[in-house]
Amino acid sequence: MARQKNPISRRRFLEGTGAALAAATAAPALAAQRPTLPPAPPSARTRIRLTINGVAQRIEVEDRWTLVEVLRDRVGLTGTKIGCDRGECGACTVLLDGRPVYSCSQLAVWLDGRSVQTVEGLARNGRLSPLQQAFVDHNAAQCGFCTSGQLMAATALLARNPRPSAPEVRAGMTGNLCRCSNYNAIVEAVLAASGAAPQPTAGNGGAQ
Ligand code: FES
Ligand code: FES
Repeated sequence: MARQKNPISRRRFLEGTGAALAAATAAPALAAQRPTLPPAPPSARTRIRLTINGVAQRIEVEDRWTLVEVLRDRVGLTGTKIGCDRGECGACTVLLDGRPVYSCSQLAVWLDGRSVQTVEGLARNGRLSPLQQAFVDHNAAQCGFCTSGQLMAATALLARNPRPSAPEVRAGMTGNLCRCSNYNAIVEAVLAASGAAPQPTAGNGGAQ
């Protein structure tokens, strides 16, 4: 059988390899010739007062920091999660003066003098809140990533409507997504914490 001629000649292969090696060798030298950029100017910082889970604090923050960054990275309250970091998923929900907000969408510097409650503030004297206990009893957490946000949204919901119906719970928590799609169990847990009769569900999935 006749041998098929290789379309890439030995000469062309060696020429191409040589060019690639020359480029790789020259890259560090070119990088060394680049002008050094001046250091970024320091970000403005502001000292704010925040009451977090009932404890008044003074915290110096960079003006660009969001509330969730301050909670997690400055105060060490990592129960509040960052999901989308753009006001879409609700994982970062905390209560600001009792109202649920996305803490990824609030600059901390806006909040001087305000009161924040996070998931760490729900338990009392080492005991879970009734809502937290209901989440445990009804398997309302799967991976758990959305759970702290769900708990804070539900806490606010029950504060303004202590005996919600199932549709009211679903409507009240539409801003909190669950990638595990555990919505029915979450609704059951909120209803149980409210003292309402449990609602029959068709399983753990389902649209919110
Ligand atoms: S992380 Fe804030 S809304 Fe998703
Ligand atoms: S339990 Fe996994 S995202 Fe909700």
